[in-house]
Amino acid sequence: MTILVTGGAGFIGANFVLDWLAACDEPVINLDKLTYAGNPETLASLQGDARHQWVQGDIGDAALVSRLLVEHRPRAVVNFAAESHVDRSIHGPGEFIETNIVGTFNLLESVRGYWQALPKGEMDPRVCGDDKALTQTAFRFLHVSTDEVYGSLAKGDPAFAETHRYEPNSPYSASKAASDHLVRAWHHTYGLPVLTTNCSNNYGPYHFPEKLIPLMIVNALAGKPLPVYGDGMQIRDWLYVKDHCSAIRRVLEAGRLGEVYNVGGWNEKPNIEIVQTICKLLDEMRPKADGSYASQITYVTDRPGHDRRYAIDARKLEAELGWKPAETFESGIRKTVEWYLANPEWVAHVQSGAYREWVQKQYSAS
Ligand code: NAD
Ligand code: DAU
Repeated sequence: MTILVTGGAGFIGANFVLDWLAACDEPVINLDKLTYAGNPETLASLQGDARHQWVQGDIGDAALVSRLLVEHRPRAVVNFAAESHVDRSIHGPGEFIETNIVGTFNLLESVRGYWQALPKGEMDPRVCGDDKALTQTAFRFLHVSTDEVYGSLAKGDPAFAETHRYEPNSPYSASKAASDHLVRAWHHTYGLPVLTTNCSNNYGPYHFPEKLIPLMIVNALAGKPLPVYGDGMQIRDWLYVKDHCSAIRRVLEAGRLGEVYNVGGWNEKPNIEIVQTICKLLDEMRPKADGSYASQITYVTDRPGHDRRYAIDARKLEAELGWKPAETFESGIRKTVEWYLANPEWVAHVQSGAYREWVQKQYSAS
């Protein structure tokens, strides 16, 4: 058996692929457009590993996706591919509409065509490992989405449950909300066996340094300002990326068809507290001669339409599927700061753009 992962060169997708292949030998076809956010260097350790195959391409390219599906006969598609950065969506929403909405639509259509051509019936457990045993019943399409589709909470509001109304506020979250609706509709209308996960903010290794946590680490070390938007009291609910990956594996394995599972770590923190925690860890692990990194904190103009608070109620996933995060915020953020200190080359290549040259050399149109 094989799985097809989309967006597997990005932050969460790449962590998922690394964890997947560390845990089992089931091959991964990794379809990624390699936008600025796609960094194959993250998966350099898999070079030459026959269990991992790169394909540079777009989820919206129906001909390519259909060919890959027929050729590799995956038992599941896990869709990470997206434009993911809220600030970029404010400055240029077009790509978000194109990939997150139109791309997901095209992907669903390609997958539907493939799935409908599979034999009906149950997969025979005795012939597991034989791809001829793959049936419509065994196939899964797992769509990775976000808590941002639920909008913003006020202080004291209960955390987002799966039944919370969709109220997206940014071009990014609106595009992800639209994609979730398409996935839901393809299940209800065509019977496509889908699963959707809506996760809170992730952090951890290989996080592109345009997002809050890696940006603060990298800027602090470079002696640059640490830009905190507005009053810094916006709240996010943080989950270590490996815990998100384990949740996705669990939902893929045992989630009920057509269901949505919220994923979160019960770790609500105001942004300023996150930045102060990073400064304290750096003061401890890489002290600088002239005082604390906290002196670099700079309040800047707020993000337009900035959501005030996100909080995820993950009780359905915990109760139904027995998932639990392995990391607390304290252990996860320590590991994350340690990782960035130990991997200056990965960061330097992202900052210099060298990772793009690497893309050209290694993986141009495989
Ligand atoms: P990312 O921006 O780091 O990576 C996205 C990946 O998708 C990149 O490798 C990029 O090259 C690829 N991609 C973009 N457009 C594509 C296309 N048209 N075809 C194929 N590949 C394409 O994103 P991430 O932070 O890893 O997020 C992955 C998924 O998880 C997204 O769907 C995002 O909405 C969701 N999510 C992210 C978070 C978070 O905190 N980062 C939280 C919850 C959900
Ligand atoms: O909630 C899940 C979402 O989390 C994912 O769906 C998105 O893909 C992911 O990017 C993330 O969105 P956020 O907008 O919450 O993440 P970001 O790291 O951009 O910002 C986190 C918070 O920190 C947010 O309140 C804005 C603030 N911020 C961000 C940056 C980059 C700052 O104060 N300063 C900054 O420089």
